[in-house]
Amino acid sequence: MPRQTSILDPETPHQTAWPARVNGTHQTPLLDRCRRRVTYLRLSLTEACAMRCVYCRPRRHGVAMDRPLLSVHEIGQLVEHLTAHHGLRKVRLTGGDPTSRPDLTAIIERIAAVPGIEDLAMTTHGLTLAGHAAEYARAGLRRVNVSLDTLDRDRFEKMTGVDGLTNMLAGLEAAESAGLHPIRINTVVVRGRNDGDLADLARWSARRGWDIRFIELMPMGPLAAEWADRYVPEAEMRRSLGPIVRDWEPIDQGHDAARRYRVTFEDGSTTTLGFITPMSCNFCAACNRIRIASDATLYPCLMDRPGPSLLPALRPRFDAEAIDRLIETGLSNKRPEHPAQGHVAMVQLGG
Ligand code: 5AD
Repeated sequence: MPRQTSILDPETPHQTAWPARVNGTHQTPLLDRCRRRVTYLRLSLTEACAMRCVYCRPRRHGVAMDRPLLSVHEIGQLVEHLTAHHGLRKVRLTGGDPTSRPDLTAIIERIAAVPGIEDLAMTTHGLTLAGHAAEYARAGLRRVNVSLDTLDRDRFEKMTGVDGLTNMLAGLEAAESAGLHPIRINTVVVRGRNDGDLADLARWSARRGWDIRFIELMPMGPLAAEWADRYVPEAEMRRSLGPIVRDWEPIDQGHDAARRYRVTFEDGSTTTLGFITPMSCNFCAACNRIRIASDATLYPCLMDRPGPSLLPALRPRFDAEAIDRLIETGLSNKRPEHPAQGHVAMVQLGG
């Protein structure tokens, strides 16, 4: 009888290219049902966020205060286990906004100290970076992605609910001074809101040497109803950059979610521009991610239904076997491609 192949099976062919031992510990890679290997955890730390971005947070979305948030210790145990035993290499902190957590620096410190973690990044609105970037960098944060949709103060306030452009720009400067590198700008392109801002943003980020990525709007949770009127595909974004760009040269995508181009502006200067195209050309085949929401629910895919909660395996005490079983259940249900519509609002899971 053929052997049953398990997602946590050390004998799978994928294992051949994988170090059998890291720091003296046996490794079993996390494989989903399509045999994609998971090495990247996106960890939402909270649903709280100071901003009210039109595409991210439904108007009546409150933050459930009664939900259990994972503690620094629980996060540490989980990341340590996934790294030591299952080849996790990269963690991104998301939210809500991670900076809403008062214990963020301690969380960064704990994860950064885990042997085998090669990359620790954070996605944030950037509003508090001016005061804290240096502290986060000292704690072990490598880099930040900051969401910025326009350089126009009024449009910024209309899109985010906060008159925060000046703060955010100061935050970006502070991140650069603190050595958080590369600095990435995420721009969600929304028809009728900021679809006329792309050229300004492209020129500005090139001048600053910051890596900008224009993101296709995703239909997430209750906000999906507004999606069709607001969605701008990559092809149209590139057309709107036509007047300032003379040449587009595609760069090999590798495992990067962004489709990147080396562009030459009309004045002869060059830069790279990225597009994140979950809707017009998804990158699911190269997916190496899992997500854990702030209440410890596992999401095998950003747009799919929630998987199991890891909480029973984290409390009252850490249970490695139970974690493995729950993650295996989640990964065995991960689809080849994301569904057409997201199950929860982005603020609940953090992109
Ligand atoms: N579609 C695409 N991107 C989104 N983000 C938030 N909501 C959406 C959406 N509906 C982006 C934010 C942030 C990242 C976490 O996800 O701009 O950069």
